[in-house]
Amino acid sequence: MAENDVVKTCGLTKNFGRKGKCITAVDNLNLEIHDGEVFGFLGPNGSGKTTTIGMLLGLINPTSGSIELFGQDTAGNSAQLLKRVGVIMDKPAFFPYMSGKDNLKYFAMSVDDIDDKRIDELIEIVELKDRANDKVREYSMGMKQRLAVTLALLNDPELIILDEPTNGLDPSGIIEFRALIRSLNKQGKTIFLSSHLLHEVEQVCTHVSLIDKGRVLASGPVKDLLGNHKSIRLTVSDVEKTVVMLQNTDWIKSVKKEGDSIIAEAPENKTADINELLTGNGIHVLEMQKCASSLEDFFLKTIGEKESANSREEENV
Ligand SMILES: Nc1ncnc2c1ncn2[C@@H]1O[C@H](COP(=O)(O)OP(=O)(O)OP(=O)(O)O)[C@@H](O)[C@H]1O
Ligand SMILES: [Mg+2]
Repeated sequence: MAENDVVKTCGLTKNFGRKGKCITAVDNLNLEIHDGEVFGFLGPNGSGKTTTIGMLLGLINPTSGSIELFGQDTAGNSAQLLKRVGVIMDKPAFFPYMSGKDNLKYFAMSVDDIDDKRIDELIEIVELKDRANDKVREYSMGMKQRLAVTLALLNDPELIILDEPTNGLDPSGIIEFRALIRSLNKQGKTIFLSSHLLHEVEQVCTHVSLIDKGRVLASGPVKDLLGNHKSIRLTVSDVEKTVVMLQNTDWIKSVKKEGDSIIAEAPENKTADINELLTGNGIHVLEMQKCASSLEDFFLKTIGEKESANSREEENV
């Protein structure tokens, strides 16, 4: 194993149910997360994210396979290792009639060596200082989520595991939460974040594993895996001429017509060049827009690329 592995799973598998009616929720999963990463565990609903997290935290017994945390096998050693981990899974049940700070003091009683100074520090980290003495029932969803982060930080963990942390947050809550994740990462925390949202993972993660039906489909640095190519929607004065022109441009990865528009896949930094190329050839660019690709598109593309790589390998045998 690499020296800076924080999480490593080998052949991790979980079957639910009995003979006859068995669901394989996690299927021979190999993950490797290194120190300092913001790791995105990306998969659609029901793909096995929460089950995997449950196993990492010793809440669910694996059917087979092994888990290492900080380079050590968790079998028989889990309580000690989990002291170095902070978690947010379900929404924590705060006492609504108590202030954020008093809630935090209450939960801190179960953790060793937490003094008032540390509590104030945590409140500052999650930017709740101005509202720390207000009752939790007066908090917005985003503020409750940031208070939840303080609980995950109580033991000053090296690894923070977040299961779908932005569920239920509005766009500004999501932006604030992302900023918080980035700042925790800057302070040296490794982050494991599960999500079914491609966009979210793209925004905040350094590395990603894409899973479906409990299996890893692809893994790697976000910029390699999600690619530098972006789809751009173009509305132009001459669709046919534009299609031919773009098809004959070597840095354009793909071109397709969609209604009156054209979708071209090109490197992110080439938008201005497309405009220049078309206007230089007498085509008016009426509109140009980046398209966000959905998780579904990404899946199809990843699976498609994998299959064509496999068939190339077979041809070469
Ligand atoms: N306790 C259980 N008993 C039986 N099946 C379960 C149990 N927990 C999860 N499953 C099944 O395992 C599969 C994976 O579920 P899991 O909750 O891990 O997915 P998920 O990726 O977290 O999904 P979501 O994005 O909806 O949270 C699903 O088919 C689910 O129905
Ligand atoms: Mg889940």
